[in-house]
Parts: sequence; structure tokens; C-alpha cells
Amino acid sequence: MARIPLEDNFNDVINKAQRGLHIADAELAALAEVTPAELAAVKAGQPIDAVIRRVARHLRLSPAALEALAHKRWYPQLPDFPKGFAAFNTVHGDMTVNSYLVWDPRAKLAAAFDTGSDSRGMLDLIAAEGLTLRYIFITHTHEDHIADLARLAGETKAEVWAGELEPVDYPGAKTFKENAHFHVGSLAVKTLFTFGHSPGMTTFFVTGLSWPLAMVGDSVFASSMGGSPTHFADQYRNNREKIFTLPRDTVLACGHGPLTTLAQEKQTNPFFAH
Ligand SMILES: [Fe+2]
Repeated sequence: MARIPLEDNFNDVINKAQRGLHIADAELAALAEVTPAELAAVKAGQPIDAVIRRVARHLRLSPAALEALAHKRWYPQLPDFPKGFAAFNTVHGDMTVNSYLVWDPRAKLAAAFDTGSDSRGMLDLIAAEGLTLRYIFITHTHEDHIADLARLAGETKAEVWAGELEPVDYPGAKTFKENAHFHVGSLAVKTLFTFGHSPGMTTFFVTGLSWPLAMVGDSVFASSMGGSPTHFADQYRNNREKIFTLPRDTVLACGHGPLTTLAQEKQTNPFFAH
């Protein structure tokens, strides 16, 4: 797959933190002791280190991580999955969205996580590997993540599952509670509620592949996190408590942007590298 750009630039991270913490520009400039013009320049994308570092401290962001992001010094080292894992990046409007497939190569059983805008690539792989798609798990019901559900579920007859606080509108779809367990051959899937960006956002923790794997939807991105003007604190707390406590070698499969790992995000994500 072609290299997927990071979902957010450093100024997007600043904007998300400001909206989440309800700190307007004038207040932030005063707190950080920078001029409104300096803040405006940074928010327009100019990487002025002294300003970035001052602003970061008042937005609970890691100054070093935000500065590294501003200078594009970092891109995640992508984990290698020799088998049983595939990522799909499809175009939706002016953005792209990710969906994922995992499978047990011996049992030939698979599970999908979201559909993206177009599931034909996933369907092709399912056919090529001779897999039976048992489950379609939905991280959250924002349109880009479920846009091709009718095709994927219709062609495979897989069961469709979503969190009880964010049920998907599809005939026969089922809901789970937190800490539900599913099995896909030798793989295990556990549900974690990581709401905030959306009311019932679920992270699926998958074990049985080469690395532990967290399908985090829009909870976390490489170098950023899912925004929310109203429930930012919930998203931040859920990320800290339920995702950043997973094993360090856990691979994060995000709804947008590249794959990353928890160990890398602990070093480089401005929201969590402290
Ligand atoms: Fe999304």
C-alpha cells in the first residue's frame, strides 16, 4: 500500500486541543505569552519553534513531540504482519479512510473492521485467500467508516456488530457491550468502549496474530487523536485508560492515517508523549 500521510498536521493538533479544552486564541496567546500575530502564524502552519513550545505547554501537549511533528521529523515505522492482516485505504470525498481485515490462515475465517468507502479490495482478498467472512465489526457509524456496508454484508452474509451506544442501521445488525469476546478461528477479539469522538466508539483488541492489534477507529491517530468539541475530555481519558495501557508492542490500526504502534505513540504523539 502507498504511504498514507499523517492524518493531522501540528496546527491541526493545536486546533483540536484548543477546541477540546475550550481555549480561544486570545486566551491562549495571553497564557503562552506570545503575540496574537505569532499565534496566528503558527496556526496558519508556520513552524516557529519558540511559539510552538510555549503554546504546547498550555494545551497539555508535549512541546518536543509537537515541534517534531511541525518539522515532519517523524513517520511511524510500519509493523510487519507476515499473514492474517490487511489494511485498505479508500477515498471518501476529499479524504481517505481505512478499513481492515484479519483472518486465521488455517481456519480460513476472517473478520472485517469498518468498510471504508469501497470494500471491493477487501472482497477480492477474501476471495483470493478463500476466506469466510464471519464478522463485520463497526468502530463507529460516521459515514466514511460504514459507507460500503450494504455491499460487504450483502455479498458475504457476515454478521454485523457495533457497540450498544452506537448501533449501526442495518437489517439484522447486532450490538455488544464493553468487554465482549469474539473468536475468529485462533484469533480473539475483545471490545473496549473508547467513546468521545462519537458516542459509542469501540476499540477492538485483537490477539493471535504476530503482534497484538488495536482497531482504534478515530480514537487515536498516529501523532494525533480524534477530535470532539463536546466530549474531548472523555476521548482523552478513554485513550489514556483503555488504549495506552495495552501492551507496548500493540499495533494501532487507525481509522485514518498510517498504522503505528503504542510504543511509538508514547514517544511521539503530542497528546500522550509526556
Ligand atoms: Fe473518520
